[in-house]
Amino acid sequence: MSLTASHATTFRDRIEKRTAKVAVVGLGYVGLPLAQRCAAIGLRTLGIDVQKTRVDRINAGISDIGDVTSADLAPLVAAGTLSAHTTFDVIQQADAIVICVPTPLSKSRDPDNSYIVKALDAITPHMRRGQLCVLESTTYPGFTREVMVVMLEQGSGLRAGVDFHVAFSPERIDPGNAKYGVRNTPKIVGGLTPACGEAVHALYSAFIDTVRVVSSPDTAEMVKLLENTFRAVNIGLVNEVALMCHKLELNTFEVIDAAATKPFGFMPFYPGPGLGGHCIPIDPLYLSWKLRSLNYQARFIELADAINTGMPAHVVQRCQDALNDQSRALKGAKVLVLGVAYKKDIEDYRESPALTVIELLQRKGADVAYFDPHVPRVRHDGHDLTGIANLDGLEGYDLVVITTDHRVFDFPAIVRRSRLVVDTRNAAKHVTGDRAHVFLL
Ligand SMILES: NC(=O)c1ccc[n+]([C@@H]2O[C@H](COP(=O)([O-])OP(=O)(O)OC[C@H]3O[C@@H](n4cnc5c(N)ncnc54)[C@H](O)[C@@H]3O)[C@@H](O)[C@H]2O)c1
Repeated sequence: MSLTASHATTFRDRIEKRTAKVAVVGLGYVGLPLAQRCAAIGLRTLGIDVQKTRVDRINAGISDIGDVTSADLAPLVAAGTLSAHTTFDVIQQADAIVICVPTPLSKSRDPDNSYIVKALDAITPHMRRGQLCVLESTTYPGFTREVMVVMLEQGSGLRAGVDFHVAFSPERIDPGNAKYGVRNTPKIVGGLTPACGEAVHALYSAFIDTVRVVSSPDTAEMVKLLENTFRAVNIGLVNEVALMCHKLELNTFEVIDAAATKPFGFMPFYPGPGLGGHCIPIDPLYLSWKLRSLNYQARFIELADAINTGMPAHVVQRCQDALNDQSRALKGAKVLVLGVAYKKDIEDYRESPALTVIELLQRKGADVAYFDPHVPRVRHDGHDLTGIANLDGLEGYDLVVITTDHRVFDFPAIVRRSRLVVDTRNAAKHVTGDRAHVFLL
């Protein structure tokens, strides 16, 4: 007998009565806030992660993810509402399983779905009839149906849409965003069947204000890729505008801010040293990869990617220009990179363009240090880098490059005390007075 409307009612009922259990697989930037939110509304939440230290720290009530404080986490752990595990046998107890593992790019910049595949291999032996399995990790349109459903069916011996529900629901978390979190960011869900759609709606509407059901997992997958492609392409556009303004000897930021006074038909995006994070630089390439297999070239995505990945080299060229202005060479210059997080006020440095800037500066023979109060240490390409402890020796650097506009930075003091500044974010825009030594993108 297939899962009927009465099963959907029972599932919703268990969620509403808070008797349902939720397993969250992958307790990182996406999974931990989700697990915390599920537990906070009283759903017994079973987190699973392959990193033992992460699991141990969560079970000790300690969060390493900026969007979840230890003060939020600890009472849920102490009450037994949230627990973390390194083994997958707890999947058996769960009514819903939500997968939030990484989806990076391979060395050849193609989708790397190996984390999802490994997670599915570990989940399926513990699956049982009546469960809902949701994928939140970003992937290409068709993955949930073509790969995940097949693996779930083969591994469990059960039938999707008949014995268990399947859905895709893209994560929209914006680390460091104080206004929008899990609860008030509308959620998109796409079920394999209408009943799968009902089940996934029942789950998320318990703890998220607005849940929109779309017609299929493929549509939900594409929604996420549209959102992130929109950002990548618009940032690519303004980065190219910055390159053009540089040639025209115009201040890009002044141009954009003036254009943004138009109350309709314009949305400001700002240029910078390049894209970073686990989403915007990566996700659009999942879409272009999929389209290549359909013999279609996703031209906007590829052009934006080429422009955005070229920005660190432009930054290094600006460093060379700035030093040249003072009859100095980049080779042998002492350069301080300010900020390695990929955006302001967070500790995440994955894909951060600042790391490429550091690498390129070093290749040109500069003596490079970095300072980032949010990121004291960095592991990049097999090397460990340790940031300097404070800005006490700022006057000793030939050049300071602002790559992240963290709010803790005192930009007036930084500009005043530095010999030369390349400000890739226009972070020091409010600093007045002597700015002859400040170079923009
Ligand atoms: N970080 C963001 O801002 C963001 C925003 C929206 C969507 N996403 C998407 O969400 C997904 C997860 O991203 P993230 O930033 O949370 O990654 P993350 O690296 O912060 O966390 C992933 C976690 O999964 C664990 N993990 C890896 N393989 C596992 C396995 N087989 N079983 C169990 N756990 C496993 C890792 O140890 C890690 O703790 C990605 O697809 C990403 O594209 C991320």
